[in-house]
Amino acid sequence: MRVLVTGGTGFIGSETVIKLIENKYEVVIVDNLSNSKEAVLDRIETITGVRPTFYKVDCCDYEAFRGVFEKEKFEAVIHFAGLKAVGESVVKPIEYYANNLGSTSNLLLLMKEFGVKSIVFSSSATVYGIPKRVPLFEDDPVLSATNPYGETKVMIERILEDACAADKNLNAALLRYFNPIGAHPSGLLGEDPNGIPNNLMPYITQVAIGKRDHLRIWGNTYPTPDGTGVRDYIHVVDLAEGHVATLKKLVTNPGLVVYNLGTGKGTSVLEMVNAFEKATGVKIPYTIEEPRPGDVAANYANCDKAAKELGWKAKYDIFDACRDAYNFQQKNPNGI
Ligand code: NAD
Ligand code: UD1
Repeated sequence: MRVLVTGGTGFIGSETVIKLIENKYEVVIVDNLSNSKEAVLDRIETITGVRPTFYKVDCCDYEAFRGVFEKEKFEAVIHFAGLKAVGESVVKPIEYYANNLGSTSNLLLLMKEFGVKSIVFSSSATVYGIPKRVPLFEDDPVLSATNPYGETKVMIERILEDACAADKNLNAALLRYFNPIGAHPSGLLGEDPNGIPNNLMPYITQVAIGKRDHLRIWGNTYPTPDGTGVRDYIHVVDLAEGHVATLKKLVTNPGLVVYNLGTGKGTSVLEMVNAFEKATGVKIPYTIEEPRPGDVAANYANCDKAAKELGWKAKYDIFDACRDAYNFQQKNPNGI
């Protein structure tokens, strides 16, 4: 099976490309390299022995993107391409709507024209907004996210629902990722954020290698067991396997399907710091600060649906993820 992977040189995309190649899929990557590097292709080749076909194309550039569909033939698409920084999306909402919605509508128009009937979309737990209760189930309400980035995910989910309602042959999987962390066990691929990391794990790994002084924990008075925020951290390799399982589901012609991809387990910031110290032997100094605006106390998934319908379950724990993220950071102190 030939699969188009948009955003395939990014953090989650590159890991998924590896799993696809390991499972004998042929992969074509389209990425504009706005948040990733071409060197990722060398690393994928080192790990798998296969260099995926690559087009440096912006999915918002309809003609260039159409050129890829004219040259290549696909049976399915995994759509990772998108801008993803929550804070930046508040400052640059128009750029976020234009990029995330424009790339997706171009993709869907081209899939229609060229008869491609299966799409896996990278959605996010952010579509649940401020949860009324945890764990979150797939049929919990999706009303409004708390920032423009999240809104693009809500809107694209809606677009895919409408597209599937209009075309009974179209199959779309909305995968709601919880908090992806970790790295490829080789240390060759991992999360490579620009500037000061916003997310917890890359911040911790940068403290661990001495690039940052200490971790600032955003609040310890939440209604959680130790007062710090609780999240569902999933190893990126598990997440990648979730995409392979989803492709197998889509060939059964299910129409629109929705899955939470998480571990089903909540971990607090302090538990994560302790796990990191245990997994790596490196001490992480921290201070307690005021809560970060927009943060929720606890957010984790119920993942029974993916287990039942995809036969997929997260295998790695936070200790594995801490070890792998640290290994990647040590080997790539200045990124890829
Ligand atoms: P990433 O930034 O590492 O990867 C996204 C890739 O898309 C990058 O390589 C970037 O260059 C590319 N891209 C962006 N706009 C493009 C365009 N118009 N045309 C072509 N390529 C474009 O991000 P990631 O962490 O791998 O996330 C992948 C997807 O998963 C994103 O859609 C993101 O919103 C979603 N997601 C991520 C997280 C997370 O915490 N990482 C959580 C939930 C959902
Ligand atoms: C953030 C995004 C969310 C996105 C998710 C995964 C916001 C408001 N939300 O969520 O939309 O889907 O990333 O990429 O940005 N923490 C610290 N110190 C730090 C960094 C984080 O204490 O330096 C804490 C946070 O308060 C939170 C936890 O660590 O309790 C996880 O934070 P983070 O990695 O940013 O993920 P989310 O807040 O879940």
